[in-house]
Amino acid sequence: MDWKKDVDLTSQNSLGFKACVENYASINSIEELASALEDVERRGWPLLVLGGGSNLVLREEIPGAVISIASTGIQVLVDDEDKAIVDVGAGENWHSFVGRLLEMGLHGLENLALIPGSVGAAPVQNIGAYGVELADCFHSLTAYDRETKALVQLDRSDCRFGYRDSIFKSSEKGRYIIWRVRFILSSVFEARLQYRALSDCISKQGSNVPTAHQVYQAVCDIRRSKLPIPSELGNAGSFFENPIVPESKYHVLVGEFPNIVGHAEGSGFYKLAAGWLIDQAGWKGHREGPVGVYDKQALVLVNHGEGSIDQLLDLAELIVESVRNQFGVELKMEPQIYPA
Ligand code: EPU
Repeated sequence: MDWKKDVDLTSQNSLGFKACVENYASINSIEELASALEDVERRGWPLLVLGGGSNLVLREEIPGAVISIASTGIQVLVDDEDKAIVDVGAGENWHSFVGRLLEMGLHGLENLALIPGSVGAAPVQNIGAYGVELADCFHSLTAYDRETKALVQLDRSDCRFGYRDSIFKSSEKGRYIIWRVRFILSSVFEARLQYRALSDCISKQGSNVPTAHQVYQAVCDIRRSKLPIPSELGNAGSFFENPIVPESKYHVLVGEFPNIVGHAEGSGFYKLAAGWLIDQAGWKGHREGPVGVYDKQALVLVNHGEGSIDQLLDLAELIVESVRNQFGVELKMEPQIYPA
């Protein structure tokens, strides 16, 4: 395997932190993947599979190896009357893929437009936005199993998707390398407008029955108005998960903070808007030197320039403490810190 030495990853992590890895390879085939993994095992290197770097907080010196999966191509496998199964390479850019589906007249993922990152990274944390999550349209995926050294097919139940969760993040972390992902999509468009901000945006446009393109455009407009573009302002999207609390705790909080934002999540639980909690705790727009809290969405931490991981994690800790003190709620970081 042809490893590149001491590769700068500053432009490959969306927070824009200075980072350098000892060994780096871009992988174009399963054969290359198998050979790279053989090297990794033989040399005992820790391994990071980089999938767009948009949900990652990188430390400055990265030991071992980083690989980036360059499996590409979009193929329609089954095209029934109103359903299609589409197979896509893990290395494709997620947003471009969503755009291609729109052109192809295949629907289901419009609400997930403009999410940064690669297709292969999307199942890891079951990306979600505006009332839709990847699991809703997921069919199966092909992954390389590092235990059996063979390709495997995993279906939706194998992946055990949850809120920003899957086996790839939890029980089977590090075992599978996602190579291709299959989605089941529909040729008939049905708008999913249960998310308030989206339905408001659509009704402002005066469309009663919006087209797929209108929904896609509305999602892009909302995201652009609330979330910073990584190439302009370093960030990793939501820095914390929306915490899930027992119903009893939610009612106590509502008693004390009548405007708190939350909604029922399964039976007996409520999901709270972490952005609201952080905003109420006074952090929105706050700066600690080169790092800070985005001024249009308190859930997003940003790197204004020469920020470091330590400065960002110190700020995150201050936020966690203040939310704990004010609301008795524990925030959990969403992006992965590497090395942990
Ligand atoms: N809010 C505030 N102040 C803020 C931010 C939010 O009061 O500074 C309130 C809003 O008014 C709203 C509520 O909190 O009532 C929820 O805010 P928003 O609609 O912006 O969504 P979110 O819960 O903060 C989640 C996802 C986003 C996703 C949006 C839209 C998580 C951790 N985040 O954010 O995902 O785009 O919903 O569906 O679940 C990501 O994961 O990186 C990400 C951006």
